[in-house]
Amino acid sequence: MRIVDRDELSRLLTMAEVIELVERGFLLLHQKKVLMPPRSVFNAPYHEGSLLYMPVLIEDDRPYLVTKIITVYPENSRLFGLPVLQGLVLVFNAMNGTPLVALEASFITAMRTGAAGGVAAKYLARKDSKVASLFGAGPQARTQLEAVCSVLPVEKCYLVSYQDPREESFAGEMGEKLGIKVVITADRKSAVEQADVIICATTSRTPVFDGSWLRPGTHITAIGSFKPEVRELDSETIRRAKIYVDSREAAREEAGDLIIPVREGVVDWSKIEAELGEVIAGEKNGRENPDEITVFKSVGLAVQDAVVAIGVLKKLDSGR
Ligand SMILES: NC(=O)c1ccc[n+]([C@@H]2O[C@H](COP(=O)([O-])OP(=O)(O)OC[C@H]3O[C@@H](n4cnc5c(N)ncnc54)[C@H](O)[C@@H]3O)[C@@H](O)[C@H]2O)c1
Repeated sequence: MRIVDRDELSRLLTMAEVIELVERGFLLLHQKKVLMPPRSVFNAPYHEGSLLYMPVLIEDDRPYLVTKIITVYPENSRLFGLPVLQGLVLVFNAMNGTPLVALEASFITAMRTGAAGGVAAKYLARKDSKVASLFGAGPQARTQLEAVCSVLPVEKCYLVSYQDPREESFAGEMGEKLGIKVVITADRKSAVEQADVIICATTSRTPVFDGSWLRPGTHITAIGSFKPEVRELDSETIRRAKIYVDSREAAREEAGDLIIPVREGVVDWSKIEAELGEVIAGEKNGRENPDEITVFKSVGLAVQDAVVAIGVLKKLDSGR
């Protein structure tokens, strides 16, 4: 069985390709060509980390069984200089169970999570969005910004400082890579007020901005929280916005950004407008006017990893 490391993956995959793959993955999920049990999250006792097991069956041109096994240690970058996410994606032939390829998971996770934000921005953000404001300076924030820049004419990004030592290199490297101006700011309110698109890609357990600061027409993508008691968005943001998710079922299980406002009685679950797959299929509307505030809440789905891993396998098989 072939093993594909991070360097090879970064040579094989572009963000534009991953956005296309992930968009197709959301559509396949909506068309019920994907069987995806809820992922299991095992919070390791005595350790500040979790082990996630994310299996999926995809019936596309050929059937594949894919699973991601990944650890999430939120304090890793601060305490040990290690990635928050580490693990493997394994692809099997679904007809005979033969393992086909193992891929390093953190690169795929960052690319597919960024790509989900890119797909959401394509359908939900204003087409003339020029200013992005970003919470988080880790690997997820990098690919979120890259994906948004590949679908919208972003010229400037405000990176909201949280005293992360990686912020300077983030601003320099991403500014150069994407050909945009990245400005580090400590002024959360002004960053939110000026944004066309806001990206939350943090490990924060509590809201990172006040929803009353949002101006009409803003799109927000929030990818950080995946536990019921953890959220990056406050209840006011959820109350004011049209809400889109990757999966209703997963959101109700895991998305503190929605679970907490529902528990508070601020909104109920009918507040979710659509899953992204329904919008891609043309069955539900994305943005309908320039004044709407839209939120895409992602908890992350195994199908996103699976379509990217299968995409890599096909590239390897075809020798590209
Ligand atoms: N939805 C998904 O599919 C998905 C996939 C992968 C990772 N994630 C989640 O994304 C998050 C980010 O992952 P990462 O690997 O980039 O983490 P990281 O630790 O490398 O970076 C987190 C960043 O958040 C910033 N931050 C923390 N609290 C903040 C606050 N209150 N205000 C502003 N900034 C704050 C930190 O300074 C840091 O820059 C994690 O919570 C991870 O679990 C989600």
